[in-house]
Amino acid sequence: MAEFVKSAEFVMSNSDIAYLPKPTLPEYAFIGRSNVGKSSLINSLCNNKKLAKTSSKPGKTQLINHFLIDKEWFLVDLPGYGYTRTSVSSKQHWQNFSRRYLRSRESLMCIFLLIDSRHKPQEVDLLFMEWIGTNGLPFVIVFTKADKLKEVELEQNIENYCQELLQSWEELPQIFRTSSVNKQGNEEILQFVKETNKLFEVPKGKNQVRF
Ligand code: GTP
Ligand code: MG
Repeated sequence: MAEFVKSAEFVMSNSDIAYLPKPTLPEYAFIGRSNVGKSSLINSLCNNKKLAKTSSKPGKTQLINHFLIDKEWFLVDLPGYGYTRTSVSSKQHWQNFSRRYLRSRESLMCIFLLIDSRHKPQEVDLLFMEWIGTNGLPFVIVFTKADKLKEVELEQNIENYCQELLQSWEELPQIFRTSSVNKQGNEEILQFVKETNKLFEVPKGKNQVRF
């Protein structure tokens, strides 16, 4: 059956992980370099161009933003990393803040690591993936902006990316091809979320909250 989002609401923005919503629903975080298309993909999945703020200038998303989808799960828009013009102190801040969130969030089911399908593997992404692996966090790779490439170029780039990953990873993560312009990949992502939601258990000591 075709998957689509029936309701999507902005819940809150946070600069401190102490104030996040209670971890009583399954949660998925979108992460990747600045400008890779995190906010755009969230809007495309939710059929709402105004839900997450997007910009052609990198560094638009600065806080951890929670969106409640179908009153069943959270989608989280995180600030991008690797924006070269960001100051050292704010890069440090990103590292501490986002990594602390990713490592400690009990209800985090999967990290969606977004990679711009047009580019060669970038060190900052590979290092981040290594960090994810070291911390034993589940993740999938989402190649973005597929509409900007011809099909053969897209497949070639993904193949090259996978070859690079196989230099250091024994197994490849699940891979999605997406475009926020023509909605390629949306159904696959929503299907994946639906299946993964079935595995969610409310963390001990927390009551399930219905929104
Ligand atoms: P930060 O919040 O700065 O980390 O960026 P982000 O990853 O949230 O990127 P955002 O969604 O704001 O998109 C950045 C730019 O890429 C915008 O100009 C978008 O219109 C464009 N863009 C995003 N996704 C796609 C896509 O699938 N196809 C095309 N052609 N452009 C896209
Ligand atoms: Mg953004």
